[in-house]
Amino acid sequence: PSILILASGSGSNLQALIDASRERDFPGKIVAVGCNRPQAFALERAAQANIETFVVDHTKHQSREEFDGALMAEILRHNPDLIVLAGFMRILTTDFVRAFRGKLLNVHPSLLPKYTGLNTHQRALDAGEAIHGTSIHFVTEELDGGPVIAQAEVQVLPEDTAESLEERVQAREHVLYPIVIRWFCEGRIQLGSDFAMFDGELL
Ligand code: GRF
Repeated sequence: PSILILASGSGSNLQALIDASRERDFPGKIVAVGCNRPQAFALERAAQANIETFVVDHTKHQSREEFDGALMAEILRHNPDLIVLAGFMRILTTDFVRAFRGKLLNVHPSLLPKYTGLNTHQRALDAGEAIHGTSIHFVTEELDGGPVIAQAEVQVLPEDTAESLEERVQAREHVLYPIVIRWFCEGRIQLGSDFAMFDGELL
């Protein structure tokens, strides 16, 4: 299966996927990396790995619909089997999400359904959570609300700041996301009507 990755920032999750895809038995191939920010370090990581890149700059588009249309055109050029959102910080339109239904994965830095949206680490600290973490989920019309496939937990320490917590959460993402993408490429994960399945079992 062919994989297209969308990122906006540093691309540490992208790097973890690039590294995993170099394993001899990795079942998928990264065919392109797209960014909405021309300065994103993710673009350099992709170039280093000889992966084709493209930029669809959201500041150059009048509306979300127009941006998503341009992004969709780039994606369709590569016709990927899987689209991986790896720190892609744009909310996608309903049309976009529907067009790629069942082929669109995201990593969200919280134990969903807790803390959708931004600043998840600070919000988990403020709420006095003992356990925090990250979720890999299918993207559906509902923001950060699609069916969860896998989660990794992180213990919150008394001395934690948002930064230290984020660092440990991201370390878990770098392990978990490549595993889930491997499963997807092996055909083990599917999106049902409003649930995810693993090896034919409801998750
Ligand atoms: C990750 O923590 C991810 O959960 C969130 O944004 C961060 C992206 O980091 N959506 P990176 O660009 O992969 O380094």
